[in-house]
Amino acid sequence: MGMKVRGLDVGTMNLAGAVQDDKGNIKIKLLRHCFLDVDVNPFTKKMLLQQKVQYVEMGKKVYVLGESAFELANIMNKVIRRPMKDGVMSPDEADAAPIFGLLVEAVIGKAEVPNTPCYYSVPACPVDADFNIVYHSGIIAGALKNLGYLGKEMNEGHAIVFSEMADQDFTGIGCSFGGGMVNVCVSYKTIPAVMFSTSRAGDWIDKNVAQVLGINQTRAAALKEKGVNIKNPKNREQEAIVIYYRNLISYTIANIKAKFESAESVPQFPDPVDIVCSGGTSLIGGFTEVFEEELKKVEFPIPINKVRLAEEPLNATAKGCLLAALNDVEIDQEAQQEPDEPKAASKKSSK
Ligand SMILES: Nc1ncnc2c1ncn2[C@@H]1O[C@H](COP(=O)(O)OP(=O)(O)OP(=O)(O)O)[C@@H](O)[C@H]1O
Ligand SMILES: [Mg+2]
Repeated sequence: MGMKVRGLDVGTMNLAGAVQDDKGNIKIKLLRHCFLDVDVNPFTKKMLLQQKVQYVEMGKKVYVLGESAFELANIMNKVIRRPMKDGVMSPDEADAAPIFGLLVEAVIGKAEVPNTPCYYSVPACPVDADFNIVYHSGIIAGALKNLGYLGKEMNEGHAIVFSEMADQDFTGIGCSFGGGMVNVCVSYKTIPAVMFSTSRAGDWIDKNVAQVLGINQTRAAALKEKGVNIKNPKNREQEAIVIYYRNLISYTIANIKAKFESAESVPQFPDPVDIVCSGGTSLIGGFTEVFEEELKKVEFPIPINKVRLAEEPLNATAKGCLLAALNDVEIDQEAQQEPDEPKAASKKSSK
């Protein structure tokens, strides 16, 4: 048994870690990407023990991690803290780096062997916001180093293609509809032709729905996550959700079209390809149907076979990262066996 490489999805709302078990099955661990800091005193400690929450002590504070932080925040009437905002590490939470490390450890553990590769997801450059991922990626790589890993970047949309398009020779369009961003990758035989992100995603829907309905954002998110079908809204609240969902989807389609048409060298797709949708925002009822409806309204530059959901929309990014890491280790081993052909091995063997 060789090294246990990992895949890590670093999302605004969720962290997901992927590893292969001894039988070769992929195991995913999901954790809400948030924490709560609580001042240590005998009363709070007793309560934490009673509530059986996951926490760590650091300095004069206790940090509650993941879903527990969420529940406890409600009980204590406090606001949870989130290391990320709008798709990247939040500058408001710069001192959260050690806590981020603990959250990562909770989903992938420590490396058994020093410098074990761990591929982690990063967003592509946004078309409608001004930031780069240098700082964001550096924080993640640093946290992974502390846990004994060698971190390697993987674009989130590309990870979806890796996870869901093996049967299509890794040719098609992978989309991740998350909380902070939408990430898209148009791939031709594993090679990304177009990659970008937009900042209209789940949080954007919540913010706008909250505004038009005069409710707070948390409540808007709860409404959205509870059994809505965007093909068949049942009341005024659901109508509002549908309006923003349609806009989000058509906006994404328009951006793929524009990016593809303006890119310098784009491949020709002789055969129709699939669009695979993943991420929490794609979980709403009717998502792929509405996507197909919106697609019919435009002249799309790539022939499309069908729009489908990832097998496990919340896990696909982490799975894609793990597959990339496994593939890399395989290539390294091949390269060591055939020293005369250094580059030939880096072509992906399509299975
Ligand atoms: N059943 C559901 N229906 C609709 N939306 C949902 C559902 N479950 C979760 N969501 C939404 O999915 C979003 C989170 O998705 P996901 O975990 O893929 O994001 P993330 O990877 O953490 O964020 P990002 O990739 O943008 O950084 C949130 O906006 C949440 O409200
Ligand atoms: Mg994501």
